[in-house]
Amino acid sequence: IISIKDFGKDQLEKIFASTDKIMQLSPSDRREICKGKTLAYLFYEPSTRTRLSFDSAMASVGGNSLGISDTNSSSTQKGESLADTVRIMSIYSDVLVLRHTLDGSSRFAAEVSDKPVINAGSGTEEHPTQAIQDLFTIKKEKKKIDGLKIGIVGDLKYGRTVYSLLYGLGNYDVDVHLISPESLRIRSDSTYEIKQRLDYKESTNIEEHIDELDVLYVTRIQKERFPDEEEYLKVKGSYVVGLDLLKQMKEDSIILHPLPRIDEISPDIDKTKNAKYFEQAEYGKHTRAALLGLTLNENGF
Ligand code: CP
Repeated sequence: IISIKDFGKDQLEKIFASTDKIMQLSPSDRREICKGKTLAYLFYEPSTRTRLSFDSAMASVGGNSLGISDTNSSSTQKGESLADTVRIMSIYSDVLVLRHTLDGSSRFAAEVSDKPVINAGSGTEEHPTQAIQDLFTIKKEKKKIDGLKIGIVGDLKYGRTVYSLLYGLGNYDVDVHLISPESLRIRSDSTYEIKQRLDYKESTNIEEHIDELDVLYVTRIQKERFPDEEEYLKVKGSYVVGLDLLKQMKEDSIILHPLPRIDEISPDIDKTKNAKYFEQAEYGKHTRAALLGLTLNENGF
């Protein structure tokens, strides 16, 4: 699972159906799905949700996990290459989950690994399992994806979840509004590929179409990816979703965020019926359990 671009609508819908099945199974039946299998995680960047949800997902389907969540304590510090680390970890496991700073890292790892590789975030390029979780959340909370108006706001330049979500949304009939500061618009090297999949409108003003949106997907400004802190400071705090903005939104609209958030969603929003970002994190566990089940069982489950 390297890129969401490799998944068509039928495959996504199959993953969603498998996720629904996982959520309905009894704990003991669920534990049969990956019984005796081992997941190895290898994270070259920090993570809370992705790593722990994979861990928790693997336990829920009866498998176990081991791995490196901080490469400061691995032989990477002695100069071991990504290729050798992946080769070694694939000896000890049935599936490898990789987060790395570089675009293309997961595809490279898949070429050297004997075992399936799941991309848990590759540079600014992609985060495919996050997109599967995001699409599943939209489907669960809005009962459909086709026909929705979806706003994506924040750091569209460096936010890898945005790219995977846009490629995934390309399988559906949706109306997409992208909202960002001028300097954080979608990267020009990706616009052609995105436009092959869907049309979108761009704006710097979050209030422009806010009353039309069914889904507002908020993203963090990715401070760690700015080459120059001065540039970050210019856009820091560009958008804050608070109760004033929520009042302008449709009553049944939902607010999503891949998390972590810094200040882009006010905590006042958390207890409103529109806030679905904690549900989204919970769905992440179930979608990842389904992905592990489908990856590790040739004939599905
Ligand atoms: N959404 C997400 O990828 O969160 P983490 O960085 O905590 O894994």
